[in-house]
Amino acid sequence: MMEDIAMHILEILMNSIKAGASLIILRITDSLDQDVIKIEIIDDGKGMSEEMAAKAADPFTTSRTTRKIGLGLSFMKGLAETCNGTFKIDSQLGVGTTVTATVQKLNIDTPELGDIGEILMESIQSNGDIDYEFDYITDVNAFHFDTKMIRETLDGVSLLLPEILLWIKDYINQGIEQAKEEDTQ
Ligand SMILES: Nc1ncnc2c1ncn2[C@@H]1O[C@H](COP(=O)(O)OP(=O)(O)O)[C@@H](O)[C@H]1O
Ligand SMILES: [Mg+2]
Repeated sequence: MMEDIAMHILEILMNSIKAGASLIILRITDSLDQDVIKIEIIDDGKGMSEEMAAKAADPFTTSRTTRKIGLGLSFMKGLAETCNGTFKIDSQLGVGTTVTATVQKLNIDTPELGDIGEILMESIQSNGDIDYEFDYITDVNAFHFDTKMIRETLDGVSLLLPEILLWIKDYINQGIEQAKEEDTQ
């Protein structure tokens, strides 16, 4: 069903959007040296109580009313466990939430990273008022993306124009590829 890491991340981003975040930070640390891919999703949304955070990754915990199970966090936790990694939710009511997952990079069960540009584009598209920061960090390189900078450059032009959204997607994916290529040199 969810085949790559990006699809899992999209679910977590959607949670942050639903929680009313105004800034969402996605940080991916892709380290061959440490044999780990670390994914952090940090939001300034409404947060969760300690009790809620403790059980949020249980599939039978959800605040949605359309179906009785919540799968975003429980699937991400399952992915981390399957891929010899770790999973953690840090949250504070009224402050925000940080979801941190790691997977072993060179593990037969670890799926491809997938299309990060696409999921960030989809997230931006679903609510054009939210700002995003994205970092992709390898052992020797780093790529940074920030919608605030893009907004300044665009000087009032909407991020939601199709050509801008597609540009963002390509820009992010090229940034990731470049960081990766230089990593292997
Ligand atoms: N970033 C977040 N901020 C606040 N609450 C959250 C966040 N992520 C998840 N939650 C809470 O945890 C519940 C479970 O999330 P999830 O596993 O993605 O299932 P679903 O989104 O389908 O309910 C959500 O319904 C929500 O109440
Ligand atoms: Mg969800």
